This record gives sequence, structure tokens and C-alpha cells, in this order.
Amino acid sequence: MVVRTNETLVMAKDLTKVYKTGKVETAALRGVDLDVQAGEFTAVVGPSGSGKTTLLNLIGALDSATSGDLTVLGRDVNALSKRARADMRLHELGFVFQAYNLVSVLTAQENVEFVLELQGVGDERRKRAREVLEQLGLAKLAGRRPGELSGGEQQRVAVARCLAQEPEIFLLDEPTASLDWKAKTDILELVKRVHDARKLTTLFVTHDLSALPIACERVVLMKDGIIFDEGSPADLLNDDKLAQLYDMPVAEVVKRRGEAALI
Ligand SMILES: Nc1ncnc2c1ncn2[C@@H]1O[C@H](COP(=O)(O)OP(=O)(O)OP(=O)(O)O)[C@@H](O)[C@H]1O
Ligand SMILES: [Mg+2]
Repeated sequence: MVVRTNETLVMAKDLTKVYKTGKVETAALRGVDLDVQAGEFTAVVGPSGSGKTTLLNLIGALDSATSGDLTVLGRDVNALSKRARADMRLHELGFVFQAYNLVSVLTAQENVEFVLELQGVGDERRKRAREVLEQLGLAKLAGRRPGELSGGEQQRVAVARCLAQEPEIFLLDEPTASLDWKAKTDILELVKRVHDARKLTTLFVTHDLSALPIACERVVLMKDGIIFDEGSPADLLNDDKLAQLYDMPVAEVVKRRGEAALI
């Protein structure tokens, strides 16, 4: 793994994405400008449908933009061939999605080995998979298949698999949705620990504010396909800003956040 510092790993300029479903067009991104520096931990927050997943999928070389510029790890993603994108996904980008995407017939250990096999890693696959699982406190579960694990455990295996890939950019799309509070905070602490230890660059999408890592330095707020605001969590996650983000009266935000804090 190449550890980069003082480098802009993601540069998006006036990025747009229009989905076409039959004759219907949906403008999911309407001019996004975003720079991500090496080593940053950025949370992307916004209402449902605001374009968070779309943005992550473009950065993750899973889909292509309709217009605008996107440079990831120094490469113009829009201009890459399918093959080059697949290589980037396998070797440089690590994804954890909301659904765990583990292979159901393989054990936790085999799921991790599988991605190493795709990367062309030879005999040391087993040892490396074992090491990652141990680091994440999953050694005891290594022999179980996804169906024999809880949702939170499956998500930790998904994080393990992603780390085994040794990505440079770690992309997480609501990895804690559908988990309980304890499992959520376990995953977040794990992600943060790994981010710090491996000096990764992390983009973490969530619309669950209670799930925001305390140590997250930067929050990007998305609304209606644009970046509505960005800054530190302390500056952005206040009642006034959330009222604007979710088009709600401030009093309603105060009421609901008060209730949420009781969870
Ligand atoms: N494959 C697709 N085809 C057509 N429209 C799509 C597609 N994917 C997303 N959209 C639309 O694009 C907009 C942005 O969707 P996106 O999934 O990026 O939102 P999101 O912020 O991730 O929402 P959520 O918080 O619910 O996950 C939405 O209006 C959605 O309906
Ligand atoms: Mg989404």
C-alpha cells in the first residue's frame, strides 16, 4: 500500500449525473465540487435521494458521470476503460455497502481470501486473511458463513475483506444502517481505528447523524444533488443547519433530535 500525504486524492469539478429510466430523467448530481485530501475522514450526510450514493459510486469507479471532471488517485475516471476501472476497484478502492455483499456459501475466512485471490495473491492468502480477521476481533468467527453471523458481525467481515484489499481510499455507504446502536458504534469505532492505523482516506456516507464518528473531521452536507455546505461537525451539525438541510422548522428539529438523543 502506498501511503500518500499532502495530496488531493479526489477532485470533482462541476460533476453531474443524470439517470435515464425510459423517458424519465433524474438529475441525481447537479454540479458537485469536492476535493478530498489524503488521510481525511469525511462524512457525507444528507436526506434520502440527495445524491450521496451516486457520488460515492462515481468516486468508486462503479458508474460514470454525465458531465464534469473527476480525478481519483490522479486518474481521470471518466476516461478510463472498463478494465482499468475494475483494476482500480480491486487494488485501490475499498467499498463497504449497506448490504454486506458477502458470498453466502463461503465462510468469513474464505470471503476475505476470495478477494485476495482476485487480486492475484498466492499462497500467503490464508495467512493474510487470518491476520486481518484477528486484527478486527473476528478470529473466532472465521469459520462461519454469513447466514451464521449477526448483521453487525457480517458488516465487520465486510470491513475485514475491504481492508485485506489494502485500499488507498475507503468508501462506506451507510454501513451501519439496519444495525442497532451498539453494533453501529462498534463498526464506527472499528472504521475510525483502521482509518487512523492505516492512514487511509475515508468517505463515509450516512443519513444517520447518531452514527457519525465523533472523530470525523469533516462533514459534507448534500441536498438535491449539490453540496449544500461543508465544514467541521461542530459547525454543521446544529439545529439551524439541519432545519435547512431537511426543510423542517427549527423547533421540529430540536424536538426530534431531543428524542433521538434518548436512544
Ligand atoms: N439507477 C438509477 N436509476 C434512476 N434513478 C436513480 C438511480 N439511482 C438513483 N437514482 C435517483 O437519483 C437520486 C439520487 O439517488 P441516490 O441513491 O444517490 O441518493 P442517496 O442520497 O444515496 O439516498 P439514500 O439516503 O436514500 O440512500 C434519487 O432521486 C434516486 O431516485
Ligand atoms: Mg444511498
